[in-house]
Amino acid sequence: MIPKETVDKIIDAARVEEVVGEFITLKKRGANFLGLCPFHGEKSPSFTVSAVKGIYKCFGCGKAGNSVNFIMDHLQLSYPEALRWLAKKYSIEIIEREITPEEKERNTERDSLMIVMQYAQRYFTDKMLNSDEGRSIGLGYFQERGLRNDIIEKFQLGYSLEARRAFSEDAVKAGYMPKYLVKTGMSILSNTFTEGNEITVKDIFDRYAGRVMFPIQDDGGRVVAFGGRTLSSDKKTAKYINSPETDIYNKSKILYGLWLGKKSIQNKDCCYLVEGYMDVIAMHQAGVENVVASSGTSLTVEQIKSIHRFTNNIIVLYDGDDAGQKASNRAIPLLLEEGMNVKLLMFPNNDDPDSFSRKVTIDEFQNYIVANAQDFLIFKAKKITGETKNDPIKRAGVIKDIVESISLIPDNIIRSIYIKDCANIMEIEESILQLEVNKIRRKITSKNKTSVDPEVYQGPHPDDIPQEFTPEVKQEKEPLNFDAEEKELLRIMLTHGNILITIDAEDEHQEKHDLEITLAEFILFELWRDEISFENPIHQTVLDEYIKELSEQRLPNLQHFSMSQDPIISSFVINHVMNNYELSEKWAHFGVYVSTEISNIKKSSQHLLFSLKEKKLNHYISLKQELLKTCTPDETQGILQEILHLTTLKSRVNKLLGRIVVK
Ligand code: GTP
Ligand code: MN
Repeated sequence: MIPKETVDKIIDAARVEEVVGEFITLKKRGANFLGLCPFHGEKSPSFTVSAVKGIYKCFGCGKAGNSVNFIMDHLQLSYPEALRWLAKKYSIEIIEREITPEEKERNTERDSLMIVMQYAQRYFTDKMLNSDEGRSIGLGYFQERGLRNDIIEKFQLGYSLEARRAFSEDAVKAGYMPKYLVKTGMSILSNTFTEGNEITVKDIFDRYAGRVMFPIQDDGGRVVAFGGRTLSSDKKTAKYINSPETDIYNKSKILYGLWLGKKSIQNKDCCYLVEGYMDVIAMHQAGVENVVASSGTSLTVEQIKSIHRFTNNIIVLYDGDDAGQKASNRAIPLLLEEGMNVKLLMFPNNDDPDSFSRKVTIDEFQNYIVANAQDFLIFKAKKITGETKNDPIKRAGVIKDIVESISLIPDNIIRSIYIKDCANIMEIEESILQLEVNKIRRKITSKNKTSVDPEVYQGPHPDDIPQEFTPEVKQEKEPLNFDAEEKELLRIMLTHGNILITIDAEDEHQEKHDLEITLAEFILFELWRDEISFENPIHQTVLDEYIKELSEQRLPNLQHFSMSQDPIISSFVINHVMNNYELSEKWAHFGVYVSTEISNIKKSSQHLLFSLKEKKLNHYISLKQELLKTCTPDETQGILQEILHLTTLKSRVNKLLGRIVVK
């Protein structure tokens, strides 16, 4: 467990714009920073980061929080894991206190897998550098392919010995449990193993024996998988073996090279997309670091989104061979659809980045890739030249192709620019091209209308909700909603809860006198007295936390809530309290607002409180009246009693509402 002082130190050090900026490109906009939200697929930026307040907020999907929340959400870490991640980044030493068995249980599984992978990476590197076999075969292979030592080290390359159980046995000897070796995919269960027994070292063997090893890292730089390349030229053995999908390795999300390349992708505002591990590595050696590979799977939308967080511009460098062509035919439509600007880059003589980089100098390489990247759509349009120009069928084929690609572009303005440019190049009427694109767009948009975006809407599909759950009554009446009042009460409590107010109080002899209490106590007391809880569970969670703070004799403090490790609490406070609070801070600057807000706040919070109560009591009464219509005769009496009780409460509230006096 991480001690409180250390937590504070970490939170202090972890500047939100720096932490977020590690993962997405932020542009300065006034006092804030702006970027593409990593939590929902968006094409124009609505993700803002306020350095002053130490928080981020997306106006598209509503996600908000502080730097710790961001790491938790983005890297899918628990709270302590996120703190540890940040501590490492800011070189803050954590001296942990003893953790409870439950805490241990929760953290172990994923942690254990990560730890195994870290061990494996160090093991393979050690064997490559420090064993005879490793040096002559593993290191020898990389050197033969022209890799410099600094690059071998940068990519943490390694070698897995030929002996079939070398790694598995050493790992078990070093204290790693066989079950985790299997769960990470580093070892394979032999078929002598019988289900139900505990896995022992005898039941497992190495997945990668005799291969050179390429560790694959996640966004946070942790090794989550490996690619292992065979050194044999036997066509029957698979050239590469990759880790299976595991709890820590989601193939469709991870991109090879992203961790090492993201800074450069941000700086250069463009990303090269290549096919293989070796291509990524060769480009780094040639001084080009803004490069990723999808490694092993065809490029997925999730992978594209993780590139899109850093840049709009992608340059596809797939091989000219059939496989490469197929891969780029699959990838490019997806890239266009995600709103990326797509360029193509081809190397002469069917070279790939790796083979080409070995034929030229670093300067030549860099010059070549800059000079030869071509806009994908323009490249296509230019296919109509010479022969094709006079062959109506070929010409129609190219135009159809272009129309399909342009239709995928989500942005209206960019789409119309392409229509204009391509029409020019192909020497056809712009209006004709526009017409064809519109036809396809209509199909696309009408298709999208019937489907509900799964990323935004998480409830059932409207068509799947049975009729009986959408009764007509609901459509006639506005659904009752206490959200606004609840929210505003919480806002007042969080920003001005400590203000002292004087109220009329009666003592046990029913004598009236003035009593001074805080505004928060007053509101809580009033809620408690009429047994009113908040309808919205988020609001109730914040309220509970508030009560807990008060009961522990702490004055509620905004920072405490916005930095809460419960993301429900922190994002509520950041969204609904701090944003509005900023307004009053601004006014305070002119010396106007705060004083009026404070003098009004007593009155307005009482007013709010009582009108919320009245609304709720009305609601409860009408519910009971509904019940009267359907209940059995025995129940009638009881329900009438309850209605009477509620009506009495209501008239008291009404009276108070009529004469709110604040002293
Ligand atoms: P070299 O041949 O050593 O230059 O490697 P490369 O990375 O250039 O490989 P290649 O261009 O043949 O393949 C591109 C990528 O596809 C590789 O980096 C692997 O991720 C993947 N790949 C290639 N062969 C296999 C295979 O046999 N099995 C699997 N699962 N993936 C493969
Ligand atoms: Mn290659």
